[in-house]
Amino acid sequence: MTKPFYISTPIYYVNGAPHLGHAYTSTAADVLARFKRLDGYDVFFLTGTDEHGQKVESAARAAGVPPQIFTDRVAADFADMAKRMKISNDDFIRTTEARHKRSCQAIWQKLVAAGAIYLGAYEGWYAVRDEAFYDEEETALKPDGTRIAIASGAAVEWVVEPSYFFKLSAFQDKLLDYYEANPGVIAPAAKRNEILSFVKGGLNDLSVSRTSFSWGIPVPGDEAHVMYVWLDALVNYITACGYPDEGNERFKYWPADVHLVGKEIIRFHAVYWPAFLMAAGLPLPKKVFSHGWWTVEGEKMSKSLGNFIDVRPLVDEFGLDAVRFFLLREVPFGGDGDFSRKSLIMRLNVELANDLGNLGQRTLSFIAKNAGGVVPPRGPLTEPDHALLATADALPGKVRDALDRLAFHEAMEDIWKLVRAANAYIDHQAPWALKKTDPDRMNTVLRVLLEAIRTVAILLQPFMPDSMAALLDQLGQPMTDRQIAALETKMTDGAALPAPSGIFPRYVEKVLE
Ligand code: MSP
Repeated sequence: MTKPFYISTPIYYVNGAPHLGHAYTSTAADVLARFKRLDGYDVFFLTGTDEHGQKVESAARAAGVPPQIFTDRVAADFADMAKRMKISNDDFIRTTEARHKRSCQAIWQKLVAAGAIYLGAYEGWYAVRDEAFYDEEETALKPDGTRIAIASGAAVEWVVEPSYFFKLSAFQDKLLDYYEANPGVIAPAAKRNEILSFVKGGLNDLSVSRTSFSWGIPVPGDEAHVMYVWLDALVNYITACGYPDEGNERFKYWPADVHLVGKEIIRFHAVYWPAFLMAAGLPLPKKVFSHGWWTVEGEKMSKSLGNFIDVRPLVDEFGLDAVRFFLLREVPFGGDGDFSRKSLIMRLNVELANDLGNLGQRTLSFIAKNAGGVVPPRGPLTEPDHALLATADALPGKVRDALDRLAFHEAMEDIWKLVRAANAYIDHQAPWALKKTDPDRMNTVLRVLLEAIRTVAILLQPFMPDSMAALLDQLGQPMTDRQIAALETKMTDGAALPAPSGIFPRYVEKVLE
């Protein structure tokens, strides 16, 4: 029986078009999902759209269309972005689907039955942009007299309305026990500390319904209320597993192995979500990992600057794999980063075209010309051969370990160490000089190189699926043998290799700046 592995992205708000930030979360989750599949897991990878709430309702109103039509349109755009980025999700959940309404209403009833929900009245600050309630101390007055949430800068408004509350205050100790018993559950460590001190500071009950608008899931038995959009949204992770039907085949995936989220929504995932689940008597997620934010050419992406970048034109210009590579290579995962054309082009030319592209190209075209276009046999090994092969053999373990910690950049760095070592090995071994003097030794050198390149290609598939598929084709690696485990078997002597062609062309900036 293969082990289940469940990874999710947040579900994206459909108040605006998809941009680089969304593509980032999805690509990172996709790399992990693809790696786990290659490593023999039974993966369930979920993404989707968050379609209810005041923010989406007002975006629909501004567009002059009914909310359902509006969300259908924007959700389709998110699904298109996922397709263009080759996101390999197994399901795409939309919170306006009937399965989700059923699931939310079922969990609501569970929470009521558990005595975790009561009717009261909310009076306090609310930021529509964040769809979040704030205590007065979490807000500040701007010089112009308007009030904002300090953490996000979003405008807050004073809300007074009847509301159902979730007894979050009753979960403080249980949450602290959960964090204590599962040290890796909130990562990176800085986020864990932030959440720990927030929870230790005491928790207020949470308003979980609204009455001042209607674009949401009705509260069972009191349809004047719609559920708070974050309760609605978080439940998506179990809806997709078939909740409330716990006998559903998909339910085997719950609890999630990783909820991947941006740093601004960690509190919802690491505090509210486990508390809701505890109250409903459901198992808790194994890990919530928070990643950083991208700025673009040094600026924060914002409506006022109008500098949201859509990744699709970048994919058209640079190629999908170059964009996917850049997103995960440029910044340590968990930290913030800056997107610029200049650094994208630089990484593409140096690391893809020069380092990796050249390694593949010069080895494979040399074999095509001088070694009969087949996998050369290998003779006795020398010290440098052993060294390169040992680096290659150790790599799957290193990559696996880095990806289990969501250290994508570290996995890439480990892979690039092998790429650079292989390039240095060619230079030192100089197979071109061996051609006349010692053809057996030349074959051994080429064979060692092929094994190293195959290791790189197999391990890079999750990051760059198209170009690594092409490289593995050129290495004659059968389609059925591209799992991580395939590296345990050596290549076959004399297997024919197809004609090689370059995989990563250098990018030449067409317009001079
Ligand atoms: N709908 C909620 C999530 C509900 S999950 C139960 C939401 N949606 S969102 O569309 O605003 O953002 C979703 C994701 O996009 C977050 O992980 C967020 O961090 C990411 N990004 C949005 N802008 C970003 C950047 N500028 N940089 C990196 N990622 C950012 O929150």
